[in-house]
Amino acid sequence: MAKVLIGCETSGIVRDAFLALGHDAWSCDILPPDTPTNRHIQDDVRTVMRADWDLMAVMHPPCTRLCNSGVRWLSQAPPGRTLEDMWAELDEGAKLFSAVWNVQHIPCVAVENPVMHKHAKARIENYQPPAQTVQPWQFGDDANGPDNERKRTCFWLRNLPPLCPTGSLDGTTARDTVAKASPGANRWKVRSKFFPGMAKAMAEQWSVHAFQHLAEAA
Ligand SMILES: C[S@@+](CC[C@H](N)C(=O)[O-])C[C@H]1O[C@@H](n2cnc3c(N)ncnc32)[C@H](O)[C@@H]1O
Repeated sequence: MAKVLIGCETSGIVRDAFLALGHDAWSCDILPPDTPTNRHIQDDVRTVMRADWDLMAVMHPPCTRLCNSGVRWLSQAPPGRTLEDMWAELDEGAKLFSAVWNVQHIPCVAVENPVMHKHAKARIENYQPPAQTVQPWQFGDDANGPDNERKRTCFWLRNLPPLCPTGSLDGTTARDTVAKASPGANRWKVRSKFFPGMAKAMAEQWSVHAFQHLAEAA
């Protein structure tokens, strides 16, 4: 069995896709899992990732201050917050992204985030443009299913190939649930939840490549 870390995940969607293929997959987050499981480590990903994850890691660090859609808050803070808070949170977000992107002892690493603004890119250590940008609907077959959504998703990849889309949808009926999530305490949760079709493609395609990479490196 090969050990796979899914960092910054409470939903278990990517973890369960790897588990379904028989991998020794674990999710990790500072928050508890959304549903009961013995496959979740509640801790800082920077601590957890130090262990011997001998196949690969998929990381979903928080994007709130890094993503293009929130760049306006860096020039006009939201009600009740200061600009100083916003820039401090940007620094924190860039630090966490840098830590998971630059982890060296895990053979293959994928980091997922939306499109980033220039202030985030400038703060990330060893920043590179994302290897690819995909949409959830590209991995779905059912127009009424959970994958038929629009959400530009970028992957930064080390020793992994871009994902090949697996679905038959063409995007014309894709929903905008993520962009239209209504304000409220749960908005970030709706906006950050992952998609099962893309998770399945990650597990199927990347685990094969990660094993090939290990064999070639041996
Ligand atoms: C954008 S959300 C990703 C959610 C994920 N796609 C899912 O389906 O559960 C970012 C997650 O990072 C977690 N997080 C923030 N700082 C963290 C840290 N230092 N270590 C581990 N998780 C962290 C948050 O609690 C949040 O669940």
